[in-house]
Amino acid sequence: MATCFTRPCLKYLLHLAQDHLEFRIPEIKALLALRAKPFNACENFKEKSPFVCLDGLSEEDVRWVMARSVCAKSAFELWGHGRTCAELQTSLSSYPSENMGPFMHKGSTYKINVYTFNKTLLFADRIKKIDALEFLPFEGSVSLKSPEHIFCLLEDYGTDPNNIPEHPDYMYFGRWIADGQRELIRSHSVKNRHFIGNTSMDAGLSFIMANHAKVHENHLVFDPFVGTGSLLVACSHFGAYVCGTDIDYNTIHGKGRSSRKNHMWRGPDENIRANLRQYGTERMYVDVMVSDASKSVWRKAALFDAIITDPPYGIRESTRRTGSHKDITKPLDVMYVESHVPVSQAYHLSDIFTDLLNFSAEHLVIGGRLVYWLPVYRPEYCDEVVPLHPCLRLISNCEQTLSSHTSRRLITMEKIKDPEELDSLAHLSDPRFSPYQGHNAFRQKYFSGLNKKSSKEDIKVDINGE
Ligand SMILES: C[S@@+](CC[C@H](N)C(=O)[O-])C[C@H]1O[C@@H](n2cnc3c(N)ncnc32)[C@H](O)[C@@H]1O
Repeated sequence: MATCFTRPCLKYLLHLAQDHLEFRIPEIKALLALRAKPFNACENFKEKSPFVCLDGLSEEDVRWVMARSVCAKSAFELWGHGRTCAELQTSLSSYPSENMGPFMHKGSTYKINVYTFNKTLLFADRIKKIDALEFLPFEGSVSLKSPEHIFCLLEDYGTDPNNIPEHPDYMYFGRWIADGQRELIRSHSVKNRHFIGNTSMDAGLSFIMANHAKVHENHLVFDPFVGTGSLLVACSHFGAYVCGTDIDYNTIHGKGRSSRKNHMWRGPDENIRANLRQYGTERMYVDVMVSDASKSVWRKAALFDAIITDPPYGIRESTRRTGSHKDITKPLDVMYVESHVPVSQAYHLSDIFTDLLNFSAEHLVIGGRLVYWLPVYRPEYCDEVVPLHPCLRLISNCEQTLSSHTSRRLITMEKIKDPEELDSLAHLSDPRFSPYQGHNAFRQKYFSGLNKKSSKEDIKVDINGE
């Protein structure tokens, strides 16, 4: 394998999944950053294309990315590409023979696959395409069952299923290197999870969040709105120690009503620790506790390598915090309170995010990342509504559409400095740091575009995608 790492001028082609469109490139960038490698996309890179070609990496870097990515399906060492068969042949002919040699010599075994995107080819047409590659100097023998080397012809027929061209828009040929971690989406599906709730985060998105947060082995990761711990499950899979808090006693202690169909009450051992046990990562479990995110219980120090969370929006769970009777000026009409906290009061979304950013600035290590979901009302959204903080640099901001008028945005920020005296008040003095005020009415706006019937249906839609 050592020969692969020393060959010059290699380019790698990643085939990206078409779901989670917006999250894909930030995921690859974060994984490369974790390895201190740059993201250098080759020319012609299009945000929506299923392919991205990367420069300046070693095969080991690419294998590392693929061992973590849930957005990338497969990776290839790119040998040639072009808009037509003739262009592909010219490109392949100019690929250095010393780069090809180690994989084509006598005595080696190989096979060639044909992958088409946005078009299905007949078997006979696939064979024709393979035959057309006979100019390549393969000296080994074909083995369909257990080849040493797998090569792929990848044809891109665009992204519009209603307008599929006869010939591909673009084609690539390369040596297969590794597949990504799409299997995690199935193996960790919430459907088969021991302990779930109404707002359990979908497995794919949880792994994407852990990747955006650059979660790494032996990191300590915290979720202040931990719920049933879906994000802790994903982070522990990548070798991080995990802990969390939630205001809801029943959630933390795995008691109360079950979210499962046909189950009235949660069974014994339905808790976050049992979820980690289910996936073989119980040793990464630190603990969870009942605590109100608006009132920090932590000593002032940089304690966490990453903070990754899905704060309440008030759609499928209440946004609330602890308070005294004195603080409450009017009855809580819209809120559903099912916890052992004796008195609670409304927790406005803008306060949730101000607190979350201040908390992260205080408790993340330098370079540590905060990853969280920000609900937005689409007709009023502009990038300026994303809350900022003097200690946190915005890394990425990716939209997941929920309905015609609402979406949530996956925000990733990185701590760049320790907070100074006035940093936690920045949101009061500078409008750039508290732009989210107008979104306090998100719940009301969420239902506003819907008539009575669809409003009921929309509540049933699982915003976590399962
Ligand atoms: C969207 S859910 C999180 C779901 C979680 N990611 C999961 O996979 O189950 C938000 C959680 O925040 C909790 N919560 C609401 N207000 C809170 C507060 N003031 N402090 C801490 N947790 C709070 C709710 O009880 C709920 O479990």
